[in-house]
Amino acid sequence: MTILLEKFRPLEEKRAALVACSGEDPFHVIVERVVSATESVVNGRQVIMVGTNNYLGLTFDPDCVAAACKAIREEGTGTTGSRMANGSYAAHVALENELAAFFNCPAAIVFSTGYMANLGVLSTLPGPGDVILMDADCHASIYDGTRLGAAQVIRFRHNNTADLEKRLQRLGEQSSRTLVVVEGIYSMLGDCAPLREIVDIKRRYGASLLVDEAHSLGVLGEHGRGLAEEAEVEGEVDFITGTFSKSLGSIGGFCVSRVPELEHMRYSTRPYTFTASSSPSLIASTRQALQILSHGVELRTKLWDNATRLHQGLTEMGFDLGAEVSPVIAVKLPLSIEEDPTILWGELLSQGIYVNLVLPPAAPGGSPMLRCSLSAAHSPEQIDAVLEAFTAVSAKLQLEPQT
Ligand SMILES: Cc1ncc(COP(=O)(O)O)c(C=O)c1O
Repeated sequence: MTILLEKFRPLEEKRAALVACSGEDPFHVIVERVVSATESVVNGRQVIMVGTNNYLGLTFDPDCVAAACKAIREEGTGTTGSRMANGSYAAHVALENELAAFFNCPAAIVFSTGYMANLGVLSTLPGPGDVILMDADCHASIYDGTRLGAAQVIRFRHNNTADLEKRLQRLGEQSSRTLVVVEGIYSMLGDCAPLREIVDIKRRYGASLLVDEAHSLGVLGEHGRGLAEEAEVEGEVDFITGTFSKSLGSIGGFCVSRVPELEHMRYSTRPYTFTASSSPSLIASTRQALQILSHGVELRTKLWDNATRLHQGLTEMGFDLGAEVSPVIAVKLPLSIEEDPTILWGELLSQGIYVNLVLPPAAPGGSPMLRCSLSAAHSPEQIDAVLEAFTAVSAKLQLEPQT
């Protein structure tokens, strides 16, 4: 083995131990066949997927599928290059205009993934002499974006507005050159940023604000525009980033802004310039999904009904959940747990329920989690099947049912 690979040996040993525990590799599950928006075949068995981000269940929407097929036939499977070098397909520009209109913003840039949207914006928008003041629980793409850029990076404690204010105060005059970065719904615990308070603070210190609405787009707000819409502070959020890979059911990312000059950044941002633009089929299905999302009151109601049903059932069983009702429900396992979390995860899978296993250091607060993501496409019967499977976990943990 080359010496370069030796550093991965300890990680590989940990992975092998996990596999030995449950007979499964929780981080390399093979989805043998996709049956529907909520079901797949894993290990030859049909399972209910409660570990995807298919919040509105649009991955099999007939209009989105038809739009994607039409685009492949008419424009081919890929663009084979970046927009700067190869030119922009009209549909990419149309999607940017549609996103701008949807968010009531003058500017929008589409990136090839949500990860790249954050890389692009965080590495380019704040430059030398500027400061990024980010919530410590922000997604890896935000962390990675800050590493690519030249701004000073400071973290504040998760959702702790007193800590945010203290740090802005310390920055003095530099606070006006500061970009505060938070998320709408946080992907690990499913909790929301206290956005009204954050907006009040950023206004008082003259800072700018970016909200990553990856998990809240389509999920929060009357029109699905996310937490900023829900909290009625859209006019105070300077930049929004997001992804097409969750409620929109495809792949891609974006940044929109109420500041028209966002457009000036387009050709300076390397994750936009030096990568191929999204394939025509992805753009076409995203455009269709955006139409559905913007009129998706019924889908949002279904999603929240499902989230409430699961949250209530798990609470009654005595589980410690990461947040109030949310489409992301983190079942926190006690730090003192004797049972290996991987075995509990494997048991759920053997009962036909796929959830995400989250282990430290990825788990905020250090407690391992079984993370569930709901979809509008789940039926109440599927939610009840998930609850049934969790009964065995609660028995193993000897939880006290709550009445
Ligand atoms: C908060 C957040 N931002 C960005 C991303 C990246 O999105 P994408 O999957 O489109 O790269 C994710 C993905 O999980 C996310 O959770």
